[in-house]
Amino acid sequence: MIKSVRPYQDEPLTYGKFPDGFAWGLATSSYQIEGAWNEDGKKESIWDRFVRVEGKIKGGDTGDIACDSYHRWEEDVALVKEIGATHYRFSISWPRILPEGIGAVNQLGVDYYNRLIDALLEAGIQPMATLYHWDFPQCLEDKGGWLNDDVPNGLKNTPQRVLQLSEIGNTVKVKLWITLNEPYIAALVGYEKGIFAPGIQDPGKSAYICGHNMLKAHAKAYRKYKQDFKGQEGKLGISFFTEAAFPASDSEDDVKATNRYMQFTLGWFAHPIFKDGNYPQIMIDQIGEKSKLQGFPQSRLPIFTREERKQLLGSSDFIGLNHYTSKVVSHAVGNHEVVSCAEDRDVKLDYDPTWPNSGSVWLRPVPPGMRMLLNWVKDEYGNLPVYITENGVSDTAGNLDDLHRIYYYKHFINNVLKAITLDGCKVEGYYAWSLMDSFEWTVGYSEKFGVCAVDFADKNRRRTMKSSARFLRRIFADNGFLK
Ligand code: NOJ
Repeated sequence: MIKSVRPYQDEPLTYGKFPDGFAWGLATSSYQIEGAWNEDGKKESIWDRFVRVEGKIKGGDTGDIACDSYHRWEEDVALVKEIGATHYRFSISWPRILPEGIGAVNQLGVDYYNRLIDALLEAGIQPMATLYHWDFPQCLEDKGGWLNDDVPNGLKNTPQRVLQLSEIGNTVKVKLWITLNEPYIAALVGYEKGIFAPGIQDPGKSAYICGHNMLKAHAKAYRKYKQDFKGQEGKLGISFFTEAAFPASDSEDDVKATNRYMQFTLGWFAHPIFKDGNYPQIMIDQIGEKSKLQGFPQSRLPIFTREERKQLLGSSDFIGLNHYTSKVVSHAVGNHEVVSCAEDRDVKLDYDPTWPNSGSVWLRPVPPGMRMLLNWVKDEYGNLPVYITENGVSDTAGNLDDLHRIYYYKHFINNVLKAITLDGCKVEGYYAWSLMDSFEWTVGYSEKFGVCAVDFADKNRRRTMKSSARFLRRIFADNGFLK
């Protein structure tokens, strides 16, 4: 039940352990860390192209070299091990393993991931691989990208490429997969606002079409994976952008607006998979074919076929939540003349003035929002296995003694513990974002999320653990909060 009570920052910590076998991870993504943008047969991704458009990225930064993880992956594995994580989440660059988007495999690209996977396993670390973390092949973009109905077929073969071509034949090395990372952000920010690659500015239908194809791609990847790797215990899920939303007041309007906001962000992608194979009813009512509300000039929510709905429903072994911040929501009728996702929702979004800030304008640390979100997910979709696939905070100073980050992790992770022990939520793992400072999309290297620093002025990209890495090491080793 959504209530307008907004949390205080410092609630008393709860003490205790996480369930046995809880996954403690660190996360990164290919474009943000790998570099080697045009090496060993890799072709251009939409981000390789986008960063070269003047004015798009702060300071003209690019991911051309980034943390140079394509060459320094051994150092990354050593750090993950030193911090004591049991899991590492990385992503597979689609144009590195399939330079043409589909079809021919780039063996050198596949070898890179197999080397990384083998090294992780050798170090006792379980890999979690993301198939699409935004660095989409430019050649597919040239054919319409996610707006093209064929793209879903491209994604479905990606796990095959990595697994079947691996040296250990058909032994399944990777047990945890994420199909898509934050499809909401990719669709909205990349295909409607044009702020992210591929830079499409189309406040119309395109974000919804793009989201539609992403959902179909996810379902296809899931069905294909389950068919081809039957009985091999791999789990495949999807990671969503999530916020906790608090109504500005207890008025019915604000409470409804808050639910609506949750449905238009998380529900847009989670509802078809975890609820009933279709978009949330509120989206169908507001912007679907038979839009009942006055004032929406155009219906724009695509329609799934019966077969697609069947494929979508239940197409995930767990729900992945990327969670950083919260919002205060009030009812406000959008400008429906401007056809855009933001206006469609009829909400006004704010921060509570008591919430502290961070290095990113969009990120206010609100630790109890984590617990509230986990409960929202449980109430809405049932008590499914949940992985927090990202959680973390930025700064711009990059101090090694990053006390604010320790505060953040301590209180957010403690709220995960509360959700598990006090509310019965089924959280199976937690991944901190990020292992190290990296290319933070449009703000380049200016916003740092790492628990390890990277010296971007040094050609060896020297990595150094921050205090927060040592803090996480303790939580991971204790498997919780010990008195
Ligand atoms: C979510 C994205 O998945 C990740 O790539 C990004 O760096 C973090 N949010 C922080 O903005």
